[in-house]
Amino acid sequence: MQALANVNGKQMPLSEVVVPALDRGFLFGDAVYEVLRVYQGRPFLLSEHMQRLGSSLAAIRIGGVDLERIRERVLQTIAAGKFQEALVYIQVTRGAGPIRSHSFPAQAVPFELLYAQEFADPFVEARKNGAAVVTVPDIRWQRCDIKSTNLLANVLAAQQAKETGCVEAVFLEADGTLSEGARTSLFGVLNGQLLTAPNSHAILPGITRSLVLSLAERAGIPLHEHVLKKTDLKRVSELFLTGTTSEVLPIIKVDGDPIGAGRPGDVTRRLQEAYRDKVREQSAS
Ligand code: PDD
Repeated sequence: MQALANVNGKQMPLSEVVVPALDRGFLFGDAVYEVLRVYQGRPFLLSEHMQRLGSSLAAIRIGGVDLERIRERVLQTIAAGKFQEALVYIQVTRGAGPIRSHSFPAQAVPFELLYAQEFADPFVEARKNGAAVVTVPDIRWQRCDIKSTNLLANVLAAQQAKETGCVEAVFLEADGTLSEGARTSLFGVLNGQLLTAPNSHAILPGITRSLVLSLAERAGIPLHEHVLKKTDLKRVSELFLTGTTSEVLPIIKVDGDPIGAGRPGDVTRRLQEAYRDKVREQSAS
């Protein structure tokens, strides 16, 4: 699969990128990242992703990163590789110190990696027919709003989903709240109202989540930013996930139990269509 990288301003094939052994992203997960979609050669919601990257960098106190320069590298990389349907991955680490030491090194220079890679959409069928998820206890830290590369809990959750034939794992909090997926945001429809957890330290402020909320508002779908509980699942008529790669993904089963009528519902379908329209609109502009 074609992939082209840019490392600290230097373009090269992804397979040739080398990360120093003392890089703090490698040693400590001391890094933040973004993933965005490219549709028909155009990066989707690039400004929103750059803004969130800036917030993540500020939250973990990585300074000296020129976001405008990274944005230009994204555009250059997409153009240089003539990417059409692709993903762009951006990661900025705190860089490498002279020794392995937990506290910040005095003179580390951030390591700026990005790459574009062709994307073969794995969710086409699930988006059409709906998919199953499994719930897993949330063992993550208390700053899930920072898009950091510390993803071990998410990796283990996603693996559990895969091994149980599910498309995604959804994190279950000690108080019974379903916060978000391992790599997606969660929405439900309860009594005709669209529900999703409000942004807080407990979830990532999903860019797709935010777009879907504005599409719902425009479509006149009543919405309420409120958490869903596992006990609500018996009463919700629809459930879906949102994310950069999954887009709007209907969920028809949780832990083996059917949701609503056991097939994708009308609100989900309307939002899927609105999302596709938005993608088309951007690609044509
Ligand atoms: N994941 N919640 C979590 C924990 C995520 O990791 C993601 C994104 C989302 C959805 O956010 P967005 O709509 O901005 O993509 C929610 C990315 C795609 C990943 O880790 O691959």
